[in-house]
Amino acid sequence: MTKRLLSTSLRALSHENPLGLPRTGAPPELPRRQRGLPEKRNIRDVRKVIAVSSAKGGVGKSTIAVNLALAFARRGHRSGVLDTDIFGPSIPTLLNLRGEPRLSANDQLIPLSNYGVKSMSMGYLVDEKAPVVWRGLMVMKALQQLLHEVEWGGLDILVLDLPPGTGDTQLTITQQIKLDGAVIVSTPQDIALKDAVKGISMFRKVSVPILGMVQNMSVFSCPNCGHSTHIFGSEGVARTCESHDIELLGDIPLDARICDDADRGKPTVVAEPESARGAAFMGIADIIGRKIDL
Ligand SMILES: Nc1ncnc2c1ncn2[C@@H]1O[C@H](COP(=O)(O)OP(=O)(O)O)[C@@H](O)[C@H]1O
Ligand SMILES: [Mg+2]
Ligand SMILES: [Zn+2]
Repeated sequence: MTKRLLSTSLRALSHENPLGLPRTGAPPELPRRQRGLPEKRNIRDVRKVIAVSSAKGGVGKSTIAVNLALAFARRGHRSGVLDTDIFGPSIPTLLNLRGEPRLSANDQLIPLSNYGVKSMSMGYLVDEKAPVVWRGLMVMKALQQLLHEVEWGGLDILVLDLPPGTGDTQLTITQQIKLDGAVIVSTPQDIALKDAVKGISMFRKVSVPILGMVQNMSVFSCPNCGHSTHIFGSEGVARTCESHDIELLGDIPLDARICDDADRGKPTVVAEPESARGAAFMGIADIIGRKIDL
């Protein structure tokens, strides 16, 4: 706190609201600069970029994205996570971070870090209680800044937590950023799988390699008697992988402790790295690391 107050007064003012987004009232004008299709760009100072995607919300995408980023850090890589879910950012909660990012000397957003992982999220920039009412251009402006105006300061790997679906945001990201691959998260439930297939098609259309699928919440082991139940079925993701020629990267069990760890801002990979759950995340990160030459 004091440190922030002591750092130059001008800068203190300028990072009050780094994006200059309206907290109330009408959205500001967006400069007209984008014509035609943007070229795919690298994110500056970042070696590898992967996207964690799911066509449906609530299947565990953010939980998996953050645990993967933490797993890469555990393996000694310089790791970061970028929360591109503008309407429902969850990385601040998952990493137990809040507050407004400072700006660097060249007006780039400086990531917030915890557990050895750097992060940037809309959640740091907009008050949690402020209704996110801007649409269209505003969202696109915010997204541009998250994608291109963060000073990562040298990363081996950046994990993008995508919003659910295959809409504008996903298309913008996949068309603007050179991605080393996409990981698709699904539960084994038919309705989730149907949407996952849409995600597969989207990545293929924009020529992003699909690294594989992660099956989440497939098996529940009763803490009382140890009996295992496949609440959403057990074969779904494997079948989808087979019919679309995709690797099944791993299975994350449905476990109340994964949820508790997430809610208290200390994800499984840091809270219980030696547990079977922790090992499941580490195993998936290791496969991905090999696939992208990390
Ligand atoms: N394997 C799991 N076991 C138990 N709870 C989980 C698991 N994966 C995710 N959750 C919980 O499910 C909810 C949705 O997960 P989240 O990662 O936010 O999904 P998404 O980003 O796809 O919307 C969260 O409360 C999270 O803690
Ligand atoms: Mg999410
Ligand atoms: Zn039981």
